Amino acid sequence: MLESGVTEDPRAGGRQLRRIVYTAPQIAARVRELGHELTAAYPHDEPLLLIGLLKGSFVFMADLVRAIERPLVVDFMVAASYGAGTSSSGDVRFLYDPEVSLQNRHVVLVEDIVDSGLTLNRLFPLLEARGPRSLELCTLLHKRIASDLVREPRWVGFDAPPEFLVGYGLDHAESFRNLPFIASL
Ligand code: IMP
Ligand code: MG
Repeated sequence: MLESGVTEDPRAGGRQLRRIVYTAPQIAARVRELGHELTAAYPHDEPLLLIGLLKGSFVFMADLVRAIERPLVVDFMVAASYGAGTSSSGDVRFLYDPEVSLQNRHVVLVEDIVDSGLTLNRLFPLLEARGPRSLELCTLLHKRIASDLVREPRWVGFDAPPEFLVGYGLDHAESFRNLPFIASL
């Protein structure tokens, strides 16, 4: 799949990408579907809050909220799980917490990717304790390797291969977030 096109993308700065896993049109089509599903899932007169986990979710979030055809509120959280490595360490820190109230709102936590599940397992109880009307997870990618998730995501964009993925918000050591497609390193 476009092997030469991948390595020639100026956004990669000449760094080697193995293959394109999801093209920009494939992602766009799937995000539109997710938008329709989320639109249908909640009564339109009940408040809906989407909380994106930064930084990885920012591109997905931007596209997803515009595909949801009803009023909603957006906020973000910052949970740093690991630095420059390509595997989870289990060390999750919260650097920014949403300021909006979760009470009486339907809350959807928006993730770029579920890998080990450590981030989610830390976040879910914390958010649940704040009394949302409902709490669900929407993730663009799910590696399906986490064995003990406190909650399975209600919405999954794609079941991802067990490779390290970059692009469309996902990084490796802060690079590649601006690739319009998702590639493996
Ligand atoms: P978990 O806590 O292991 O589930 O990891 C969740 C976070 O790790 C995601 O929100 C990503 O920021 C990062 N991550 C996990 N797998 C990948 C990957 O393949 N590429 C880029 N980031 C990843
Ligand atoms: Mg990340």
